Amino acid sequence: MSIEKLKMSGFRNYKEKSLEFSPGVNVIWGENGSGKTATLEAIHILSVGRSFRTARLQETIEKNSPHSRLVGVFVSEKNKKEVAVSHTKDKRKKVTINNAEVQPAEIFGQNPTVLLSPEEQKITNGSPSDRRKYFDKTFSTVSKKYLTTLIDYNKVLKQRNILLKKTPTSKEIETWDEKLVDTATKVWNKREKLYKEFEKALVDTCELYGKKEVGVLINSGLPKENPKEFLEVLKTNRQKDIVFGYTTAGPHSDRPVVLYNGKNIKTVGSQGEHKISLVLIKLAEYRLIKEATKTTPTFLLDDLFATLDFERSDAVFSLLEKNTQTIITNTDLVDIKNHGIIIDGKTNKSIHLLRQCKN
Ligand SMILES: Nc1ncnc2c1ncn2[C@@H]1O[C@H](COP(=O)(O)OP(=O)(O)OP(=O)(O)O)[C@@H](O)[C@H]1O
Ligand SMILES: [Mg+2]
Repeated sequence: MSIEKLKMSGFRNYKEKSLEFSPGVNVIWGENGSGKTATLEAIHILSVGRSFRTARLQETIEKNSPHSRLVGVFVSEKNKKEVAVSHTKDKRKKVTINNAEVQPAEIFGQNPTVLLSPEEQKITNGSPSDRRKYFDKTFSTVSKKYLTTLIDYNKVLKQRNILLKKTPTSKEIETWDEKLVDTATKVWNKREKLYKEFEKALVDTCELYGKKEVGVLINSGLPKENPKEFLEVLKTNRQKDIVFGYTTAGPHSDRPVVLYNGKNIKTVGSQGEHKISLVLIKLAEYRLIKEATKTTPTFLLDDLFATLDFERSDAVFSLLEKNTQTIITNTDLVDIKNHGIIIDGKTNKSIHLLRQCKN
């Protein structure tokens, strides 16, 4: 899969902007504030329905525009489809595929992307919730079943939390406890399976790049998987949950850990170790998505040389030979050319963005 065309209307600094991409390496270059990250953000929204910079899509609407509309044309060997995501300042969102409206979750996994950007460093150095969100997004991309199971769980969790705020009777809360245990068990079972697949992809990636000593592993940190035990946990926590007004234990509070040489990277990792771990995680993500969806994801590399140094970027650049569409942003072309990437070839191109585009 690759993105062929992108049209952004009322999005970030763009009133109206259309871009065309090649199936190989695309280098988007331009000075600070010219809209490079915004372009990758638009592609990311068309891939998963969400931004990687903000949880509030309305923030991405161009300041003088009433709404924003993103349209992407995605092509694979077999087909071509047009995905559009529109959103308004009052949080209404519409997603269409070939002009037919679909549920926002529908676009997951169809046009997968792998994003390597400074913002993604939070996967190794951020909070457990940052990591959980990352794995939930990745797993939702590789497994539609995981996504629907997670959506079901979140619906039940929301209802239980509403009830907790109303000082419920034991009978009322028990009904929701059972539903929560049922959906939580399904999430945990699927999550564990997918963590294992991710770990395998990570081990393979480390070996491939001769980084055997880099033991980046994922520890799911799952609480009890036995439904009965989780029901007991909920019972034990009940008074606490009523006081807090929300459910304190469950899949939504798992604490994934990234290990570097067997130790928690968050507490022991040097800056360089954080960076290399992120690259390996991203390469593993690429591998997993490719295997599971039988679709080659588009690699989005934002602010490349801020995220990687020359040596570390080699592992990423080795991917570029394998028919992978890659969209790189950088302030200039020099560093890219120094890496031996020929931009004027048939499958590669450069796109120059100017700061104050008169669209
Ligand atoms: N909602 C918005 N409305 C109007 N302009 C916005 C909005 N959000 C962001 N911008 C502006 O859009 C511009 C492009 O931002 P972007 O982050 O894409 O730049 P960039 O090319 O990646 O820059 P850098 O090289 O510094 O990373 C910035 O000047 C930013 O202030
Ligand atoms: Mg940027």
